[in-house]
Amino acid sequence: MKPMKSLPLLLFPALLLALSCSSQRGERTREAPDPDRLAAQLDVLETELQAAGFPRSLTAEGELHAVPAGDWTSGFYAGTLWYMYEYTGDEKWKERALRYTLDLEEEQYNTGDHDMGFRMYCSYGNALRLTGEEAHIPVLLQSARSLITRYDSTVGCIRSWDFTRGTWQYPVIIDNMMNLELLFWASEQSGDPRFRDIALHHARTTLANHFRPDYSSVHVVDYDSLTGAVRQKNTHQGYADGSAWARGQSWGLYGYTMAYRCTGEEAFLVQAEHIAGYLLGRLPEDEVPYWDYDAPGIPDEPRDVSAAAILASALYELSTFSENGPTYLRRADGIMESLERTYASAPGENRGFLLGHSVGSKPENGEVDMPIVYADYYYLEAILRRKNLSE
Ligand code: GLY
Repeated sequence: MKPMKSLPLLLFPALLLALSCSSQRGERTREAPDPDRLAAQLDVLETELQAAGFPRSLTAEGELHAVPAGDWTSGFYAGTLWYMYEYTGDEKWKERALRYTLDLEEEQYNTGDHDMGFRMYCSYGNALRLTGEEAHIPVLLQSARSLITRYDSTVGCIRSWDFTRGTWQYPVIIDNMMNLELLFWASEQSGDPRFRDIALHHARTTLANHFRPDYSSVHVVDYDSLTGAVRQKNTHQGYADGSAWARGQSWGLYGYTMAYRCTGEEAFLVQAEHIAGYLLGRLPEDEVPYWDYDAPGIPDEPRDVSAAAILASALYELSTFSENGPTYLRRADGIMESLERTYASAPGENRGFLLGHSVGSKPENGEVDMPIVYADYYYLEAILRRKNLSE
């Protein structure tokens, strides 16, 4: 079976089944967060930004940390604003979102890392989805062409980074699964199968090499660029090579759920369900993971709210494909309730970011226990996915 292409279109029939199961089991419908509260907070962020680039996080001194278009996180603010437009229907968000989207136009030619999906599909991809503006199509297609310049058929993966940390030859990180949606879209749009073939190879190679027997994933797999053999498995942002870095686990779950939606390849769904089983068995009581599931000082370790938001969004989508849908819905609702209860910014707090308490890179002491823009993006996406499931 080939699943349909985007979440709002998934409502039939898997969703109806999931929803009917859920009401049979007496689960309640979640109340959506107040859009006016989110809007007021994002207005604060826009005022703080004052055209200084793209908001990413806060500095250690509590100032807004804005980044240029080439940063891997630059597309999340535009994406957040597109989601606000989708949530509220207010043209104000559309205008603001379009401004920050168009500021990314030059990035379509960026071949310097694998983060094209994050930068361009979260911004231009949402712009196209919500407005149908055809001028966005060539920008997205060029972005896909730039991304596949980083593919090597001997390895069977898109190279993530060009820095080698002294020992890597061809580093591929689990996060890279998130960039594949752009490629699946590009084949659909253009009729050129190359993008999809590369995405499929990447997803299959990653499935073979990134996962441990318990379905946790390593962060970095380094390949031999001549033979394609695995050379080493490391972490970069996690606690240890053998640990489960929290955001990486969420990227993997989201990535395989999306890859199943885009291809119908059964092995991807099976993998997503295995990852979900692993993660749901390891979440702490309040459903928001520590920055690494194996961090040595738990419970005195920072949480990573971004990992929680990505996980909730992925679980909402996975719930539409699975007999375990009611469980995934219930657990995603639990995560979202916890985020709203404990981790959401008070009005005006965090310079306008919606959520606090994410971790960028603990080993580098970067953005530890901070608001970070991608947490807000996936939080809003999860709100919308939940809303679509309830309607
Ligand atoms: N892709 C980088 C990160 O998740 O931090």
